[in-house]
Amino acid sequence: MESIRVFAPATVANVTCGFDILGFAVDRPGDELVLRKNENGRLRIVRITGDGGALPTEIGRNTCGVVLTKFMEQTGIGKGLDVELNKKMPLGSGLGSSAASAVAAAFAANELFGRPLTLEQLLPITMEAERMACGAAHADNVAPGLYGGFVLVRSYEPLDVVKLPVSESLFASIVHPHIEVKTKDAREILRREIYLRDAVKQSGNVAGLVAGLLLSDYGLIGRSMHDYIVEPIRAILIPGYDDVKAAAIQNGALGAGISGSGPSLFALSPSESLAFKAGEGMRAVYLGMDIQCDLYISKINLEGPRILD
Ligand code: HSE
Repeated sequence: MESIRVFAPATVANVTCGFDILGFAVDRPGDELVLRKNENGRLRIVRITGDGGALPTEIGRNTCGVVLTKFMEQTGIGKGLDVELNKKMPLGSGLGSSAASAVAAAFAANELFGRPLTLEQLLPITMEAERMACGAAHADNVAPGLYGGFVLVRSYEPLDVVKLPVSESLFASIVHPHIEVKTKDAREILRREIYLRDAVKQSGNVAGLVAGLLLSDYGLIGRSMHDYIVEPIRAILIPGYDDVKAAAIQNGALGAGISGSGPSLFALSPSESLAFKAGEGMRAVYLGMDIQCDLYISKINLEGPRILD
């Protein structure tokens, strides 16, 4: 094989109560990436589209570049490669844009060279791209992006990632208001210490959400989707936060919250039709505020990245 074209999905990280430890993949949007072997033995990012010129092509400053450099260091193969990245999702949206590019690069290289690494070995490589992008090697976008499905990062040291079961009828609605929030900034405003009473409530919700997924207990999932630690602080970055969440619930969603570091907001619903209803309700709030937004409805993407051709 001389070249490969792949797709890697957007992801919803945190899922309200699971800051840095919960995330799921969606069907769309996502990134497309072409990896082509070249004769000159160099790694080059030859073209980026869909980013409005925002992304650097220097290897050390680009998530794909970081991932492919690490891949080569680890495997000793893949030295001469041309990369073409087609951003098919917004940057700074809270949908795991940097993670999608990182996962696309890792998955493409591994497939192009006959799978020298396992997914478990690829994951830390993609986390390094997150470290470069926002200063923290968080895995709650790259892990669901790479593995597909709904993922729990049980521990970072040592890395212990668990794929959770999800019911086929669980659907996500995501609204992306056209404003940009940088993950780095959204992390810097967080408190370094939390109250014990908040830790207790938060642990109950994380456990409840995981149990709700395991039991397909939608009531439990909905009751658990509250964040006492991160969202109350980040809400100030997101216009319409309370109203959009309320609109989702009023229209039948189980729960709603900030997708990753925002500004996108997501909701989980127990059917596709309710996900559309909740999504339309969420969008209507932004339209009422004269803020342009995109709406995505998706089931949980169990597949993760895939080969296009
Ligand atoms: N867990 C990360 C954060 C996700 O909230 O900063 C970023 O998409």
